[in-house]
Amino acid sequence: MPTYRTSYCGDLRAEHEGTRQILTGWAAKRRDHGGCIFIDLRDRTGVVQLVLDPAINEKAHEEAAKVRSEYVLKIEGSARRRLEGAINPKLATGEIEIAVDSLEILNKAETPPFAIDEEANVDQDTRMQYRYLDMRMPRAANVMRLRHQASQVIRRHFDELGFLEIETPFLTKSTPEGARDFLVPSRLQAGHFYALPQSPQIFKQLLMVAGMDRYFQIVRCFRDESTRSNRQIEFTQIDVEMSFATQEDIFETVEGLTAKLWRLIDVEIQTPFLRMPFAEAVANYGTDKPDLRYDMRLVDIAPEAESSEFRVFRSVLESGGMTKGLRAEGAGSFSRREIDELTAFVGQRGAKGLAWMRCVDGKLESPIARFFSQEDLDSLSRRMEARDGDLLLFVADQPKTVHQALGDLRVELAKRLDLADPNRYEFVWIVDFPLVEWNDDEHRWNPLHHPFTSPHPDDLHLLGKDPSKARSLQYDLTINGQEVWGGSVRIHQSEVQERIFDLLQISEEEQRIKFGFLLDALKYGAPPHGGIASGLDRIIMLLTGESSIREVIPFPKTQGGVCPLTNAPTPVDPEQLDEVHIQPIEDE
Ligand code: AMO
Ligand code: AMP
Repeated sequence: MPTYRTSYCGDLRAEHEGTRQILTGWAAKRRDHGGCIFIDLRDRTGVVQLVLDPAINEKAHEEAAKVRSEYVLKIEGSARRRLEGAINPKLATGEIEIAVDSLEILNKAETPPFAIDEEANVDQDTRMQYRYLDMRMPRAANVMRLRHQASQVIRRHFDELGFLEIETPFLTKSTPEGARDFLVPSRLQAGHFYALPQSPQIFKQLLMVAGMDRYFQIVRCFRDESTRSNRQIEFTQIDVEMSFATQEDIFETVEGLTAKLWRLIDVEIQTPFLRMPFAEAVANYGTDKPDLRYDMRLVDIAPEAESSEFRVFRSVLESGGMTKGLRAEGAGSFSRREIDELTAFVGQRGAKGLAWMRCVDGKLESPIARFFSQEDLDSLSRRMEARDGDLLLFVADQPKTVHQALGDLRVELAKRLDLADPNRYEFVWIVDFPLVEWNDDEHRWNPLHHPFTSPHPDDLHLLGKDPSKARSLQYDLTINGQEVWGGSVRIHQSEVQERIFDLLQISEEEQRIKFGFLLDALKYGAPPHGGIASGLDRIIMLLTGESSIREVIPFPKTQGGVCPLTNAPTPVDPEQLDEVHIQPIEDE
């Protein structure tokens, strides 16, 4: 017999009846029933019920009386069917129990800071501080198992398609993904710093120049940005790059992988995925990551706004802005307080107000209705497909503000109206992104993605004339309103790359310092290439239905970027700072 176990606790079933078992695990629950003691023994697979009957073994029963929560136990006994009334259909092991004849306490445990029981509803901060206790519960254990399975599926998928898994350095130079870098001071080169990679972008392009042809990596990336429900400073990408490949080849590779990943949760998905140009996504949903589980499109109401007497709308239109609205189905019953909340919500996104109309008895009712002719109200009602009980909401402003406000409002309304089915998955490729956007603060063009993204071949002539109209070969895959994959076909000719750097006003000197090695590499026969990367954590969130990225990362950081287990970042010894040539600034 093995020393520690014959089975995992959670794997035992009725068919094990009569077998002899050695089990190890943690005491989840102990119940004293006069004569017999019952203990739920837990390991990462689940729990099984132990019965300690003094009639079977007196010594084991005596030991069991000393057991407390989370003690580590080893038992020997035989599996037997539970009595008819004692079967627990909610438990995978619910048809059997172990009649124990030997029990050994391998280790004691202090009373844990919270009950290790999902029903206990412990707050996330506390659970993350004691993540090693949190993971003993099925919720976290199941996430870890699924994450492991996803990694296996990913590796198998890319291996079958001839991709090589190649590592790229962590101690390296800044990569331009748009966030702040984490810096690591060098001891040997005084005053010099490494940057932790925001992604392996430049290295994977170099691997294409190197002829590696197809690369992938499951890799940690570091970005010093504020954390959110789907964002951490340290996160994992599935990173991919392909040579001699078109956008179509990349889409097919990702769609195939996505179908396999969703099979892990027994969901068959349809490929190829829907494609939507960026401009269409923004116009209809206010965002480049639309949640397509519900419709609620933005409707341009310029025709009615123009002929109305409503000064707010007309003056916005006259100054080059736009007026758009959306129909919140069944929200006609929202109270004034709720509408005020929504007004504050769009206010936080820069909107100066939120106009509204209720649809009652086939008519639109609103304080602003009197500014519209009946004809225009009918036309509004028709074009927005208003029905009794609906609420129409409008914002007038510059396009960016209208889209930001209504795009976010759409998501907020879906939440309040419970429109997003958690068991539905809507995949959409967003394509034809603009190449650049104007940075008003710095008075320059910024790349929408990163500076290595290829301009659309049909729009090269626009680069000199009207860069804002030029499209790129960037693409994103959005799932249920979350950007999950993002990538592009790259520039593979150094002349084009230099042209883009010029457009972005990156001086020749800066080009040499920051990207000289890439520009050089592109001169030595770089193949056409492109790639993509996904947030693995976000995929796991979608697969497990978790709404916080922290639940799917083994040891996540808190909101403030602190590691709740170790308390990092922490101060260091002055000698350590000396070694890396850093002098702390005295606090004033
Ligand atoms: P991008 O910056 O779009 O592209 O990142 C790719 C994907 O990574 C995920 N992601 C994050 N997940 C969690 N926390 C974060 N802080 C975070 N930041 C990004 C998102 C995103 O879609 N090098 C390019 C890819 C390429 O061009 O091939 C890149 O990193 O899901
Ligand atoms: P007012 O004329 O400022 O009293 O506004 C009348 C209504 O129009 C209120 O419900 C405001 O919230 C709304 N409103 C004001 N400015 C805007 C705007 N820019 N876009 C949409 N609604 C607005």
